[in-house]
Amino acid sequence: MIKTASILRIIVLVGIAFLGVEFLLETEPGQWAVIVHPYAWVFLGLVLLIAIAIEASIAALHAILYKTLSEENKLRFHELEAHKSSKLEEKMQAILKKMTRSKSIEREGEIELDHVYDGIRELDNKLPPWWVYSFYASIIFAVIYMIRFHVYNDYTQDEEYLMEVAEAERSIEEYKRTAKDLINFETVTLLTEQSDLDAGKGVYNASCVACHKPDGGGGIGPNLTDEHWILGGGIKNVYKTISEGGRSGKGMVAWKNDLKPLEMQQVASYVISLYGTSPAEPKDPEGDIKWTPEDN
Ligand code: HEC
Repeated sequence: MIKTASILRIIVLVGIAFLGVEFLLETEPGQWAVIVHPYAWVFLGLVLLIAIAIEASIAALHAILYKTLSEENKLRFHELEAHKSSKLEEKMQAILKKMTRSKSIEREGEIELDHVYDGIRELDNKLPPWWVYSFYASIIFAVIYMIRFHVYNDYTQDEEYLMEVAEAERSIEEYKRTAKDLINFETVTLLTEQSDLDAGKGVYNASCVACHKPDGGGGIGPNLTDEHWILGGGIKNVYKTISEGGRSGKGMVAWKNDLKPLEMQQVASYVISLYGTSPAEPKDPEGDIKWTPEDN
């Protein structure tokens, strides 16, 4: 027979192993180690197997030892076991008694009030300590709460709300940065953070300078710093040109297979930031569409 104690021991052991995994393995705050590191499950599975094996061996040992006992000792063994469990029951009863301080039904007479109404009697019961203690605890909680929030004004509910919204917005931004298909030429927005423009410049220097020149003045490709655009200016058009390519045969290929959406967004933002700069050898304006950053 499987004993409850064995199961409890196994659960506690696996629980401790789980906590250990969570504390010892490095994760970003708010992430579960067992999700980030799937092999943690292998470890937990091993711990579970070993715990079951230990419990099974102990149970087997018990069974063998029991078989070796003489009939008389077997009886004594059962008595001892029974004694153990009745001891436990007594203890539980004592704790229950302490937490309720109730009078047993036989002794109810001692606390009866001489107030009978329609045969309904009233007992002057003591307040049960479990209730009194929780009441005291709530008073202490209230005092601390009042001092913290109404005397020292730690933070108000409004501020708490704003903090949570800011936190959520941060994680949405984070998600948008890493999620792939969220950015396309319809949803793309202009990035203005210096770090994004620097990243865009990195992509530009690596992939675009051959045709557009390091300063954007143009060579095989058109000048990217003036207000004339062949395929349309503004973040959405520029992103689309980079992602889908220019007119066929002109040399501007589609970059969507080589660059990540975020990289294309960064390099498009960088291209737009070049507007109005003065390249060393600017190519003559090409394209009939006029666009300046004010048109965004
Ligand atoms: C092989 C040469 C070449 C490379 C490399 C190149 N381009 Fe181009 N690019 C061109 C040409 C040619 C055009 C004109 C396309 C057309 O006329 O349809 C163009 C057009 C553009 C336009 C549209 C300009 C307008 O007036 O509408 C943008 C924006 C642009 N390129 C950005 C980039 C970026 C960003 C990169 C790097 C990821 C890049 N290009 C790499 C040759 C190139």
